[in-house]
Amino acid sequence: MNNLPWGGRYEKSLDKLALDFTESIDVDEKMVQEDIWGSEAHAIMLGIKGIITDKETKKIIEGLERIKKEIKKGKLKLSKELEDVHMNIETFLSKYIGEEIGGKLHTARSRNDQVLVDTKLYIRQKLLDIMTHLIIFSETLLNLSRKYVETIMPGYTHTQIAQPITLGFWLTGYVSMFLRDLERFEQLYERINSNPLGACALSGTSFPIDREITKRLLGFSTVHRHSFDVISSRDFIIETASILAILMSNLSRMSEDLIYWTTFEFQMMDVEDEFATGSSIMPQKKNLDIAELTRGRTGRVFGTLMNVLTIVKGTPGGYNRDFQEDKPALYNSLEIVLLTLIVFNEFVKNLRPNERRMEDLARSNFSTSTDLADYLSKEKKIPFRKSHEIVGRIVTQLIKRNQKDFENKQDLKDLLEKEGVEISLKELRKILEPMEAVNSKQSYGGTAPEEVEKTINALLETLEKDKEFVSLKGEEIKKSKSLISSVIQYIIEGNPVKDLDLDKFSIEFEKDKKQISLI
Ligand code: ARG
Repeated sequence: MNNLPWGGRYEKSLDKLALDFTESIDVDEKMVQEDIWGSEAHAIMLGIKGIITDKETKKIIEGLERIKKEIKKGKLKLSKELEDVHMNIETFLSKYIGEEIGGKLHTARSRNDQVLVDTKLYIRQKLLDIMTHLIIFSETLLNLSRKYVETIMPGYTHTQIAQPITLGFWLTGYVSMFLRDLERFEQLYERINSNPLGACALSGTSFPIDREITKRLLGFSTVHRHSFDVISSRDFIIETASILAILMSNLSRMSEDLIYWTTFEFQMMDVEDEFATGSSIMPQKKNLDIAELTRGRTGRVFGTLMNVLTIVKGTPGGYNRDFQEDKPALYNSLEIVLLTLIVFNEFVKNLRPNERRMEDLARSNFSTSTDLADYLSKEKKIPFRKSHEIVGRIVTQLIKRNQKDFENKQDLKDLLEKEGVEISLKELRKILEPMEAVNSKQSYGGTAPEEVEKTINALLETLEKDKEFVSLKGEEIKKSKSLISSVIQYIIEGNPVKDLDLDKFSIEFEKDKKQISLI
């Protein structure tokens, strides 16, 4: 027999090489508190259902509380020899309270449902943190949108100047994307937030457990009904990776815009020194490394998606050790996204738009061609296809004459006349003015400042709902933590556990914390 909790079946200890290959301590260390939370909820449920005695429940809870404190103080370290966090905690427990009682904690539980609890609790909190920072970042962008709602800039398609827009409009475009990311996170959160505990190895258990109790103590909103399905499930990991990848893709595209715009060629923006880096050899350089690293780290997050998709793809139903590989890359991606949002928020606040240069660029490359064609159709009743053709021909002529825009209105007027269009210089000056062009785009969701103001308000309204979601879910987690800590306190005080009614308990608890011991 070897000294691992599953050692009964084994006559020899695990080979050192095999152990090094299979242990998961590095990543498991991140989930110690979640693992203990899950174990305490499980022990309380076993006690309430009479599967273990009140005395045993008390001992186990006291032991787990001691482990929790000692780990927090740094006095206990997980050992690789014990393979994972689950077996480390169980081994500490048996050391503190004896194997006789410590060995009962794992009744009606498997590491297969246990690892799902830890992972879900861990991801759930990280998702709330990410959502919080995505909301803060979106609010920053909306504040900037208000400030720059009339700041003209060129809008691009195919990286070529296309039509004049405003900086405020561009900024709201990214917020609109981020709100979809938030919506995806919210839906994912609800799907993740279901209790896997009690599924055991794969088929449930013959012990009279109550999965509703652990659901409440862990703050899950539902119980995942199908034991085999939940044990086999890693789609929530894939979904998390995929939503993180989409968010990073959005941030990467925003970075790409900003990297271009701060170049010498564009000069549409600059960034304060605190958020730019230099070159070790070229004294003149000011580089946008924050945006470049955001773009670069997107590779790691995309890699995570491919990583977890591939891990899951070839596994048969049920638990497979391959699943252990789902955490290192995913947890790293959660960290990357969180940090990127925090830094990017400060970074955008330190961007300094060069409004003159933006407007100059908006007055080049015939950016108001669409407006001219629209005018011909609207006022001169020329079918749009034909207007498009006329303006296209004129632009070709002007380019041949080395013009960069409709700068010579008389030339333009003459060319239009040749096409059979009578138009005054006054009309032309008005149509071709970028601010006029922007103001005219009053269609729903367009770039006209009044319309952008409406868009900002609509986005803020959605953002309010997102805030409510995050605070509600945060409250739910807090409530479950406060419920379990009162139950723990109650058990440690030596009160009866068997048949404890959590509904009654919380009502009494809400009324007066001191009353707990009387129930
Ligand atoms: N370290 C494992 C994981 O992350 C924990 C579950 C181990 N279960 C097992 N049956 N070996 O998936």
